[in-house]
Amino acid sequence: MRPAGSGTGIRSGAGGASIDLMDSRDRDAESILDWSDEFIGALKDRLLALRAGSELPAEDRDELTAHGLLEESSGQPTALGEALTELIIRESWQEGGERRTFRELGIEDDVGSVLEIGCSSGWTLRSLGPAPGARRMGVDIDARALALGYRFSRLENQDCGFACCSAYALPCDDESIDFLICRNTLTYLHQRSAVREMTRVLKPGGLVFLRFENVWYDLRQIAHAKTIRSLASRLRDLGLGLIHAAAGWQLGAGSRVRWGRAFVALPRLRKTLRACGCEITQIDESLRCPRFWGFATQTSLLARKAGKSSRRQAPGSPGAR
Ligand SMILES: C[S@@+](CC[C@H](N)C(=O)[O-])C[C@H]1O[C@@H](n2cnc3c(N)ncnc32)[C@H](O)[C@@H]1O
Repeated sequence: MRPAGSGTGIRSGAGGASIDLMDSRDRDAESILDWSDEFIGALKDRLLALRAGSELPAEDRDELTAHGLLEESSGQPTALGEALTELIIRESWQEGGERRTFRELGIEDDVGSVLEIGCSSGWTLRSLGPAPGARRMGVDIDARALALGYRFSRLENQDCGFACCSAYALPCDDESIDFLICRNTLTYLHQRSAVREMTRVLKPGGLVFLRFENVWYDLRQIAHAKTIRSLASRLRDLGLGLIHAAAGWQLGAGSRVRWGRAFVALPRLRKTLRACGCEITQIDESLRCPRFWGFATQTSLLARKAGKSSRRQAPGSPGAR
């Protein structure tokens, strides 16, 4: 795995954590990188307390205001304060990330070099056990989430690397990654282009873990829509997913706002993976996720790239434990 990014703005800290914001020029992310360890250490509790409606001591509020997280006039969270609160709330839902799932799928801590696509603030990466000498790297287009993830990694003495880049142009050499993670992100991507880029960087015999929203997620979202506007956008997303599932066609690669999202259909994904030299080896039947009419709204699976692994036998392959 190449070090994060082009080398323009790499920062690194204790424990081997590093970040490269590449050419994102995100000023909020830059300032998060400059906040003190003490402030970062207290941030989760303070933002969660505010969201829960608790009163914070005046000096805590002053500090949040001085860091641009609360409006000076109204005392309400700024856009940055809201964005960081959302990230921290999502982190708090993860209960140890996917480590348990990985164990159940037979993935050991020493799986080798790990790359997560759409890692946000890196809770999944950071939940993996220590594997000295193996690189863990996460990429995302959200520079603020990455900056927060980097700061948490430093505080936790973790050696995760973060890079601000697109899933379609990973800063990794061909066939350099042992284990690739893409969790709840594929539906926002042009699936064929993203899978092609993932499998480019995966070593022969390497594993890819995919977790994604399926059609039941979209149906559940439609059933729970509260406004005409959200109903319309959810119906549009379902339409995009159905077109992709049936015809394999998607609008250009882009964000949810610009293009909508398309749920992932297992047969279509299997075909795409196969075209890129990967076979699904396991589907996680015990997935913990919301259900709709009894059906899991997400699917998670493990696929293996053809070829001999230079590390060890992959779970799910003949003869594996
Ligand atoms: C729903 S979040 C999932 C975050 C995390 N993986 C998880 O499991 O909770 C989707 C993430 O994908 C990222 N993302 C969207 N489009 C992307 C792209 N083209 N390249 C890289 N990341 C992208 C978003 O910024 C966001 O952090």
